[in-house]
Amino acid sequence: MTFSTVFVAGAGFMGSGIAYLIATKTQARVMVYDIYPAALDKARSVMEKIGGGAVEKGFLSASELAEAKKRIKLTESDKDAAEADLVIEAIAEDLRAKQELFGILDRTVKPQGIFASNTSSLSITALAAATKRPKQFLGMHFFSPAHIMKLLELIPGLDTSIETMDRVRQFGQSLGKVIISSKDMPGFITTRLGLVLINEAAFALMEGLSTPEEIDLGMTLGYNHPMGPLALGDFVGLDIVLHVLDTLYTGFGDPKYRACPLIKRLVSAGHLGRKTGRGFYEYGAAS
Ligand SMILES: NC(=O)c1ccc[n+]([C@@H]2O[C@H](COP(=O)([O-])OP(=O)(O)OC[C@H]3O[C@@H](n4cnc5c(N)ncnc54)[C@H](O)[C@@H]3O)[C@@H](O)[C@H]2O)c1
Repeated sequence: MTFSTVFVAGAGFMGSGIAYLIATKTQARVMVYDIYPAALDKARSVMEKIGGGAVEKGFLSASELAEAKKRIKLTESDKDAAEADLVIEAIAEDLRAKQELFGILDRTVKPQGIFASNTSSLSITALAAATKRPKQFLGMHFFSPAHIMKLLELIPGLDTSIETMDRVRQFGQSLGKVIISSKDMPGFITTRLGLVLINEAAFALMEGLSTPEEIDLGMTLGYNHPMGPLALGDFVGLDIVLHVLDTLYTGFGDPKYRACPLIKRLVSAGHLGRKTGRGFYEYGAAS
């Protein structure tokens, strides 16, 4: 069973990719909502760029892209969520902000509408508790860039119904995704494993095991990872890495998730990775 109207909340990096994906892979109307007009403008140009590239490479015809564009509406009004069959939230990784938004949307969206969060680490059960529809609430964790990465991780909260999981699983498959599901524990499967590796690589660097380049080569050439863990940390942003490690540490109460002091030092100095031009590596101008 598919969804006719999808409301994507948060027109940032993930939201724009998710909206483009749904508009090009399904016939759904896609509403992209953000509180900042500038974010909506940026989302429009990001989607134009991705779409133009897809047509150039022959992944999509010009007429298919034109049809997909007609199905996308950018909006600053949460009231446009009223008729949504599916809401996918992709605002900043902040529990309070997400709960507040879900509380507002719960009053706006029709009672049958399903709610999903693209959170990388926060409790789906705690987010669902901000609504009166916990049976129709789940985690729908896309990976960046959302229109390219094959994986979709689904996370049921404590009260998510089997029907909700089944409907969203089918929808995910219609987007061409391979689906894995995880219990609702901090970081689920993917964020937990990925972040532990980045953290351990930072400890290895701090302890002087080797250079950043050689630590990363250990994983790219030794384990066939496409990117080394330190380069990945810089790519994700060390502020986000630190924030998620803190979520794992408090969520599990287990010292194995304590953030490496080197990551804390780099973040305090404002060296957040690629976006500031320096993290574990030096990049020159910010990229
Ligand atoms: N960036 C990644 O690689 C990645 C991967 C998987 C999941 N995620 C998760 O996706 C979510 C979004 O991440 P992102 O990287 O796209 O962030 P982002 O900062 O690029 O985008 C967030 C957008 O949400 C908007 N926003 C903030 N508060 C809002 C509100 N109350 N109502 C409406 N819009 C609001 C902001 O204006 C911004 O445009 C986070 O939960 C993150 O953990 C990110």
